[in-house]
Amino acid sequence: MEKDIHHLLPEMSGELGQVARAVNRMAVSLTEKERLEDQLRQSEHLIALGRLATGVAHELRNPIGIIKTLVELMKQEYSQVSGIEEFTRAIDEQVDRQALEIQELLDFGRPTKVSIKECSVNDLIKGVLSFSAAMLRKQRVGVVLQLDNKLSRIFADTEKLKQVFVNIIVNAAEAMPSGGKLEIITRETDNMVVISFSDTGEGIPAEEMVRIFDPFYTTKKTGTGLGLSISYQSIQLHGGTIEVDSALNKGSTFIISLPLISPLCDRSDLLDAKNSGN
Ligand SMILES: Nc1ncnc2c1ncn2[C@@H]1O[C@H](COP(=O)(O)OP(=O)(O)O)[C@@H](O)[C@H]1O
Ligand SMILES: [Mg+2]
Repeated sequence: MEKDIHHLLPEMSGELGQVARAVNRMAVSLTEKERLEDQLRQSEHLIALGRLATGVAHELRNPIGIIKTLVELMKQEYSQVSGIEEFTRAIDEQVDRQALEIQELLDFGRPTKVSIKECSVNDLIKGVLSFSAAMLRKQRVGVVLQLDNKLSRIFADTEKLKQVFVNIIVNAAEAMPSGGKLEIITRETDNMVVISFSDTGEGIPAEEMVRIFDPFYTTKKTGTGLGLSISYQSIQLHGGTIEVDSALNKGSTFIISLPLISPLCDRSDLLDAKNSGN
């Protein structure tokens, strides 16, 4: 019976036809109502998850801050103790990693303010690579850059874009635990700036491809499963798309397309005029 209501009645003539059309209209609007209700349930679910995430992140942030301060003090107080540096560096590394994950949780729960400015995607990529260089070297990931030097500048929230690039680069490195190659290509087609990140890592099983952008989906022991979900939201905000192509044990390619004229350009209230640059 539940399902019968969605079946549309065939065209009929006369009064019966009028009744049939009225019933059909009702069925269509009922389906639409159910679709909207589903969407609402999904967004309420996400809001609840966001609140939970923010709460947890705040709880974690204070002790992390205290650990960070104590390590700084240890470095000064016990600078003569041999081998201390190795320990403090290890603590620092882990604390920074936790801080990054906490920031991911906070960003998920409370989307940060948008601020757009004119920027060069190539420069953003170079900037992100300069501070991920040490991590990539340590993981024995070789980077091959193929940046189109005629690429148009775009209007974007540079902090959000940099975060997306970091997420994808970190994921690529994590997918290549024994090293590999990361190729980053930029090009321009059909009024879009297209950026692709190809790794030679473990790849993603076909049946998991639909889930990787879901919040909290992770296959890692210490993953948050938020990086790609936040990245997806950020790219969507810019009117762009993010797609993935992957082959198991061969590697994955993440392709981001950003429109030259972003829908954000219509929002003059978001335009950060004094800060034009990268
Ligand atoms: N380059 C990649 N190669 C293989 N799997 C990937 C890659 N990027 C993402 N994934 C898969 O998508 C999942 C979700 O990624 P993400 O949202 O960044 O969360 P996290 O990195 O915390 O697990 C990862 O756990 C992994 O299974
Ligand atoms: Mg990640």
